[in-house]
Amino acid sequence: MFLAEPTDLAEFAGQLIARRQQVSPKRLTDPGPTPDQVALLWQAAAQAPDHGLILPWRFVQVSARARQSLGEAFVQALVERDPCATAEQREDARAKAVRAPFLALAIARLGDDGHAEIPPTERLVSLGCALQNMLLTAQAQGFGSGLVSGQAMDSVALRTLFALAPNEKAICFVVIGTVSKAKPNRKRPSAADFVSSL
Ligand SMILES: Cc1cc2nc3c(=O)[nH]c(=O)nc-3n(C[C@H](O)[C@H](O)[C@H](O)COP(=O)(O)O)c2cc1C
Repeated sequence: MFLAEPTDLAEFAGQLIARRQQVSPKRLTDPGPTPDQVALLWQAAAQAPDHGLILPWRFVQVSARARQSLGEAFVQALVERDPCATAEQREDARAKAVRAPFLALAIARLGDDGHAEIPPTERLVSLGCALQNMLLTAQAQGFGSGLVSGQAMDSVALRTLFALAPNEKAICFVVIGTVSKAKPNRKRPSAADFVSSL
């Protein structure tokens, strides 16, 4: 438990947030988070705001032994949209499944669950907050992290592998691991770029 005074907490939060940046799965190697660290990642996700307390999202962690099935689903997803994909393109698609020590699919439940008062936009915001909590926790644990989506998200192959219900949508993978090669953080927009007053 972090027991610093509130001012230190604000400084800590600021520094943590300022260091977060997208790290592509190609630059994430072992070691990944331990089971105890993964438990903290899920705890962080659970701190997300959730209008109506409907828990409109879930995650599926992809274990080491399931990476092969995921690779096959990526290949099938590619073939779904391009039946003429070359052997090299298929192998590239398959290789994506073995990158990053920690890999989990973020899934949003967008409706048809008796909570019509909570629109899809609010459900996605809740998932976004859960994701950011995870990314920041991974950062605090000393790891790099990133989000990866792509055209496979809506494929039959991926939906089937992850047993998505009709009212669920795969949003992105969250990837976490040790950064093999650091990159400078990008220049951030200033408040003037996105804030106005009424
Ligand atoms: C829902 C979502 C999906 C994303 N999918 C990808 C992706 O498929 N490939 C990728 O390189 N980055 C992906 N990103 C990460 C963005 O590219 C990244 O956040 C952006 O480049 C800004 O970099 P930063 O995170 O360091 O600020 C995704 C981000 C979000 C929010």
